[in-house]
Amino acid sequence: MSVKILMVCLGNICRSPLAEGILASKLPKGKFIVDSAGTGNWHVGKQPDDRSIATAKKHGIDISSQRGNYFTPKYFDIYDYIFVMDNSNYDDVVSLAKTDEHKKKVQLILEELFPGDNVDVPDPYYGLQNGFDMVFEMLDETTDLLAKKLLEKHS
Ligand code: 4NP
Repeated sequence: MSVKILMVCLGNICRSPLAEGILASKLPKGKFIVDSAGTGNWHVGKQPDDRSIATAKKHGIDISSQRGNYFTPKYFDIYDYIFVMDNSNYDDVVSLAKTDEHKKKVQLILEELFPGDNVDVPDPYYGLQNGFDMVFEMLDETTDLLAKKLLEKHS
């Protein structure tokens, strides 16, 4: 059985598509499935933001075939791990959890890099290109640790 991982942000066009593409690039396909979703539904069916697509491309990762998806409570049953980009995503997702088991699946993605510090991946949507570069670097560093842990745990 595959290990299923969901990345979540607000719009599912900037941060979580990058997180999905970056982590997927570090894990063997088939054994691991990485998807993403937004807690807002404005961008359902849309491509990621052009700036996220360009940022990923600079690093050899193609996220252009991803499409916007809306987080619904059924995902608690489908996914083994749910990584959220910021504290507001955390509150939104956890508010939909009906059991402790579901709640325990949810973690801030930067928890790997900054344990216990509650650090957010900042929303780059209203900013400039360098915000996307910074988001990429943060996600790249934290997913190095995450991928190592997942590979150890599910080998
Ligand atoms: P994301 O960024 O949560 O990283 O995808 C956003 C994208 C769009 C909006 C907000 C955040 N929006 O309000 O449309």
